Amino acid sequence: MRNTFGKTTAMAAVLAATTGMAQAEDVEVLHWWTSGGEAAALSVLKQNLETEEIGWIDMPVAGGGGEAAMTTLRARVTSGDAPTAVQMLGFDIQDWAAEGVLGNLNDVAEAEGWDAVVPEALQAFSKYDGNWVAAPVNVHSSNWVWANKAVLDELGIEEPKTWEEFVAALQAAKDAGKTGLAHGGQPWQEATIFDGVVLSVGGPEFYRAALIDLDAEALGGEQMVEAFNRMGTLRSFVDDNFSGRDWNLASAMVINGDAAFQIMGDWAKGEFVNAGKVPGEDFLCFRVPGSDGAVSFLSDQFAMFAQGDDAAKEAQAKMASAIMSPEFQIAFNTVKGSVPSRTDVDASPFDSCAQKGMEQLAAASESGSLVGSMGHGHANRAAVKNAMYDVITAHFNGEFTAEEAADELVNAVEAAQ
Ligand code: BGC
Repeated sequence: MRNTFGKTTAMAAVLAATTGMAQAEDVEVLHWWTSGGEAAALSVLKQNLETEEIGWIDMPVAGGGGEAAMTTLRARVTSGDAPTAVQMLGFDIQDWAAEGVLGNLNDVAEAEGWDAVVPEALQAFSKYDGNWVAAPVNVHSSNWVWANKAVLDELGIEEPKTWEEFVAALQAAKDAGKTGLAHGGQPWQEATIFDGVVLSVGGPEFYRAALIDLDAEALGGEQMVEAFNRMGTLRSFVDDNFSGRDWNLASAMVINGDAAFQIMGDWAKGEFVNAGKVPGEDFLCFRVPGSDGAVSFLSDQFAMFAQGDDAAKEAQAKMASAIMSPEFQIAFNTVKGSVPSRTDVDASPFDSCAQKGMEQLAAASESGSLVGSMGHGHANRAAVKNAMYDVITAHFNGEFTAEEAADELVNAVEAAQ
């Protein structure tokens, strides 16, 4: 691992070369980190920048998956007032880069050797036309289940290993008067569940064919019907008040013991940790049963919008450098629930869920079982993603049978392309 002195010296050289030593200024950061755990992680970032004498102007727009944030961003850019740095996922980064409005982080990336430490799967989104346009702050994944351990112990339920065991465990919780599955009825939350369910039905091959390659046979075939059937099964274990509920309130139901399980990305762990809960003791983390070995990943990246003046560019370079430092990656990701976006970070400061996540990420990458999360913009561009959201949510709310939903998925995806 590079020492702090080496890094600081390299940065100083970059800044001197690229900015003529202009004064750093504020950064305005557009993001959707508004839950308790997310706010705690955000303050790690703010404090880190403060030590670099970079001021923080907060621009929060709530909503997982970033749909609402991206709508706000579009309006800001259209009115000629782009924020300095924007939390962004996957294909959105590529779309904005294609519009020619993002800055270039090549100098800092080269000085700090990002090419050698950031996994290729992330670089595919951080770079456009071979240039670094965004700094990846983490890796999350969506095919996780979070369980209240005391509730499981009370009901005599072991960690479910197969889909059938999972359904039996949900039923046992329901029979005991608990909510089986804590869920918030918002399209992105249903799409998050869908990532894990598709993997549980047909593994990474089917996931890739359907959600990434958009193969019509996979999108509309028997395995997709089975995926929708499984979504229907899950629907039968949510409570009556699920509609519109925020994801962190669903996490709170598991934390409080009102519900047994939540299927959610590992930002949910940030909520458990923020509530003082300990993995293995108070809660369990495991992959959606049937999806073991596969990982549907996403990475929060900060895309930098091109700036005219040198001080603003300097602040962006400093922010990117701060984000990429191994020390920051540990401080931030232990709170956020994610794992580092660089391969050379020591795993020992992380809790057991994160260590499991890091091992599984490396193993999935090795075996070809690492796939981009559809729910979080890493499988396809926004138009296709939104088309999928619509069908998944309509089915979840009883508008389509599983067969109809699979047909609708083919049509909606075709129309969106
Ligand atoms: C982001 C996470 C965030 C979650 C819920 C995801 O799209 O990648 O960082 O915690 O949404 O807000």
